[in-house]
This record gives sequence, C-alpha cells and structure tokens, in this order.
Amino acid sequence: MTFSLGIVGAGQFAGSFAKLFHLHPGVGEVHVTDLLPERARALVDQHGLAGTFEDVGSMLASGLDAVAVFTQRWTHGPLVAAALDAGKHVYSAVPMAITEDEIAAIVERVRRTGLVYMMGETSYYNPATVYVRRRLADLGRVFYAEGDYVHDMDLGFYDAYRYSGGPDWRATASYPPMLYPTHAVGGVLGALPTHAVSVSCLGVPDTRGDGVFETSVSMFGNDVSNATALFELAGGGSMRTNEFRRVGYPSHLKESRFRFFGTEASFEQTVNQSVWQDKEGFTDVTDLLRARPSLDEDDPSLAGVSPALRAAFVSGCAPVHDRARLPKELTGAPNGHEGAHHFLVDDFVRSVTDGTVPPVDAWVAARFTLPGIVAHESMRRGGERLPIPDHGEAPA
Ligand SMILES: NC(=O)c1ccc[n+]([C@@H]2O[C@H](COP(=O)([O-])OP(=O)(O)OC[C@H]3O[C@@H](n4cnc5c(N)ncnc54)[C@H](O)[C@@H]3O)[C@@H](O)[C@H]2O)c1
Repeated sequence: MTFSLGIVGAGQFAGSFAKLFHLHPGVGEVHVTDLLPERARALVDQHGLAGTFEDVGSMLASGLDAVAVFTQRWTHGPLVAAALDAGKHVYSAVPMAITEDEIAAIVERVRRTGLVYMMGETSYYNPATVYVRRRLADLGRVFYAEGDYVHDMDLGFYDAYRYSGGPDWRATASYPPMLYPTHAVGGVLGALPTHAVSVSCLGVPDTRGDGVFETSVSMFGNDVSNATALFELAGGGSMRTNEFRRVGYPSHLKESRFRFFGTEASFEQTVNQSVWQDKEGFTDVTDLLRARPSLDEDDPSLAGVSPALRAAFVSGCAPVHDRARLPKELTGAPNGHEGAHHFLVDDFVRSVTDGTVPPVDAWVAARFTLPGIVAHESMRRGGERLPIPDHGEAPA
C-alpha cells in the first residue's frame, strides 16, 4: 500500500528529498509544482517522477494524499494551512512558520483533522542530538544547554539567496536569524523533554555595508545578522542559542553545534570534536558522532566492518545512527545534514502509512519554532524578557 505525494517548490533543497521519497517503498506517484514551471519539469525529468501540476492550487485540488512543502522559509505557514484544509498530510521544510498566528493555525488544523503534519527538522537526527537523547539519564538533571546554528553568509548563502530571490534577492537575504531557530533549538529540545517558557535576546546590527541587512531594503525590516538568545526552560534550567550569519567559522564542516550540562555528566562539541565528560574524566566520542561521506560498497576502508556500520558508511550516516528501521531502498542513497535526510523521509512515510504521530509533529514543531519568533521580538525590544506561548503536546 503506497500513498501519493506532491512536492511544492522545486528549488535547491527539494531535489535530494524528491529522490528519497521516490525511492521509499511506502510512496507511490510523486508530482511536483513550482512557481517557475521549468524547475518543476527539471525535477520530474531528473528523477523520473510522475508529472507536474500547473500550480499549488491545482495540486491541492487533486486526489494526491500528501504534500511536501519546500518553498522559501517565510512562506510555509499559509501553504501548510491550505494543504491541511484540502485534506492533505503535510511534510514541511523548516521553519514551521514565521508568526505566532500561523503556528496556531497549523496546530488547530492538525488537532481538528487528525492529518499528519511533520516538520523536517534535520537537527532532530543530528548525531549529537541522537547521542544525548540516548544517554539522557546519564546526564543527571540537565540545567543548561546550548544549540548554535552558525552559518556565515559568505559560505553559500549569497548564491542561495540570489537563486531563491531573483532580482530582488537582497530584500529576502536579510531574513532575521532568530526566525530560523529550529536547527539550534530543535537540536537541544530534540534531546531534552522540556520546552522554552521565556526569552531575552540581543542582536548585533550588521556593518558589512553590502546592502543586504538594511532595514530600508529588507522585506523583514531587519538589519541584524548575529543574534544570541537566553531561554528559560520549563521545569528549571536554561538554554542559550546563537544564530550567526557573519562569523569566522567553517560552517561547511559543522553548522549546528551543541553543549549539554547535567548534574552528573556533560557533553560538548566543537567543529571537529565531541566529548562526553563526568566528574572523573572524559571520553572522546568524535568518531561515533562523525557522519561519513557516502562511501562506495567496495571502498577498501570498509574491509572487516560490520554490516550495520557498512550500511551507515555507504549512506552518509554516523555510527551512532541506528539504520535498522530504514527500508533497504534507502541504503546507499544520497543523504545530507549529518545523516538526517533518510530518517526524516522515513518518519513521514511511516506516520502517513500507519496513522501515527511523527517525532516532530505540529506540537513539537511549535516548541522548536515559537522560541525563535518570540526571541526576535525580544531583540527588537532591546532584550526585553518575553513569555513564550505553548500549545502543549499532541493529544493522545
Ligand atoms: N537543514 C535544513 O533543514 C534545510 C536546509 C536547506 C533548506 N531548508 C529549507 O528548505 C526550504 C527550501 O529551501 P531552498 O533553498 O530549496 O529554497 P529555494 O528558494 O531554492 O526554492 C524554493 C522554491 O519554491 C518555489 N515556490 C515558492 N512559492 C511557491 C508556491 N506558492 N508554489 C510553488 N512553488 C513555490 C520557488 O519558485 C523556488 O523554486 C526552505 O524553507 C529552507 O528553510 C532546510
């Protein structure tokens, strides 16, 4: 039994997911639509997909079972709400949305319809998050954590925004850092069973002078390129997040980095090292958490390696990832974001097929996204501490 899927937005990110959805045995026909029809057609041709729709309206009016939204980051809220209104299950690229009202509208629709909504948060499967989730009890009481998303504009973002925004790309390249909080917040809260209840945030106005982070140019009225937020967590404890877009850091080597401090143990990460510590000493877990570039089946370095580890290495995962649940069709397929893509696709397919709630459902997605929206507002008010609304957890 398979379900049919429509991809909305055939830009830079949709390609790898189109291939994985097409490969997954739970998915039947895959269709594509894009405001630029040539992009939709090219994606269909590249992967041998079922066909294109003229626009998102005709896709939503069709008999497709589900849609996957890969449009620009500020566009998801209204598209997802419309898709749920049309009775489609929804996979959405991050962020969930950019306003509190958009998020409330999605949560309300998912609650009312029982349809599957999943946000494709790659950090939920970041090796560090997977590892800490597994060893949570060993940390004792976690009272402080950090999640940073550190991605300099010079490392790919100018080209990406030009492709994405066309002639007016500068208006959107100033996208506020805290409205893209999920790779940082989601990596922490993907391991800790809590949520943020209040925040104070400070921003650093940009000084590059290239006409991007300027309030008069920015469609978001934003001139801040680096922002830091301190969140109060439910049940006590705090979480700090950095969203940096002007930073001397090799984002291509690692763009999300995490630290967790508990009463019994702690975990810290730099660009090339991951360390578990307790009151007696430390263990270097770098190798366990390092996603391998996808290797060929016959790569000599795989000689003598166990079948499970071999499957991880030919699929761009880290040893800490347990691929046992994944369909064999994904073994060896292109992956991304430190091994996350295969798990995200499989989570969504399982939820739609089995009628279950995905790990990052609408309620969890709201807890990954709302803290950044409120942090952005706090920053605009000079760091005023603001309460963060909470939608709770998915109803049983
Ligand atoms: N680590 C991650 O999770 C990660 C990484 C990269 C991108 N993303 C997310 O993926 C999404 C897509 O990013 P991208 O770089 O591919 O963007 P992009 O700008 O390259 O592509 C977006 C495409 O959507 C199309 N589009 C916009 N509105 C549409 C509509 N109403 N109907 C049909 N098509 C529409 C555009 O024409 C464009 O081709 C973003 O939301 C981004 O945040 C997530």
